[in-house]
Amino acid sequence: MIERIVHEQLDDLEKAGPGADLVEIFTDSVPARVMCEMIGVPETERKSLQRHVETLGRLSCTVPEALAAVTGMSGFLARFVPEKMAGPRDDILGDLIRGGQLDEKELMGLTATLITGAFDTTGNMLAMGVYTLLEHPDQLAKLQEDPELMGGAVEELLRFLTISHLGASRWALEDVEFAGQTIKKGEVVTVALPAVNRDPERYADPDRLDIARKDHGHLALGHGVHQCLGQHLARTILSVGYEALFDRFPGLRLAVPADEVPMRDDYVHYGPRSLPVTWDD
Ligand code: HEM
Repeated sequence: MIERIVHEQLDDLEKAGPGADLVEIFTDSVPARVMCEMIGVPETERKSLQRHVETLGRLSCTVPEALAAVTGMSGFLARFVPEKMAGPRDDILGDLIRGGQLDEKELMGLTATLITGAFDTTGNMLAMGVYTLLEHPDQLAKLQEDPELMGGAVEELLRFLTISHLGASRWALEDVEFAGQTIKKGEVVTVALPAVNRDPERYADPDRLDIARKDHGHLALGHGVHQCLGQHLARTILSVGYEALFDRFPGLRLAVPADEVPMRDDYVHYGPRSLPVTWDD
């Protein structure tokens, strides 16, 4: 299903022609379409859900904007979940409904979590990964020569980019002494994931992108019991997406100078706002 969606979006990219925006046509659309299919959201609802998720992930979003996005999302859930409960399909949501352990409110919450968890994270990572590979042509050439490197390349891009740049938070369940500090029971600690993933004591030459790097074990997807629920799905979408894109457009390049690519630096997850690309027809 992921391969089909990836190739359909690449067909659209080909149709749009050189100069097209990869974010609009490919990187934002693929993860959203995949998650929508996994929980049975009709295609007609996708774009408005993408807009709501994007708004909620923007740190500069105003209270009226956030309220409008939450209202839009709740309105969708209030229509969608009862309809699915009346006729569960053969998908994740259908399984959860048939499992009979969750009530309507819980199913709505979980559906919202899957949508908000999957869309912008994976979309930004897909786009940021493409941008980064295009900016590291030696690494891209290595990957194109040896597709076996893809698994490691995805891990290295996750580490190198750490798009969830605001970190992951935990409450201390008891007083903890750490690095000469006392973290008191009930206090919140936010771990700066980008700093961890570029720790020179952990990684040799941490600021270098090296897709053949062996020392993985990054925290780009969190850690412990609350580590990213969608990590295997994300890894699959990223591998399939990068492979198909560079296979079908081997000469892909940025259509604007790299430092003119506008970045979503005011979002929970970092990535390009748009990514104009070109190739030789
Ligand atoms: C490259 C893409 C992704 C990145 C970088 C990412 C990153 C993260 C991070 C950093 C966390 C916090 C982990 C922690 O606190 O230890 C997290 C949690 C989570 N992610 Fe992802 N994620 C991605 C894709 C996805 C996808 C595709 C889904 C949906 C299927 C998803 C659903 C979730 C959920 C539900 C949680 C909360 C888990 C919990 O609190 O128990 N994520 N993700």
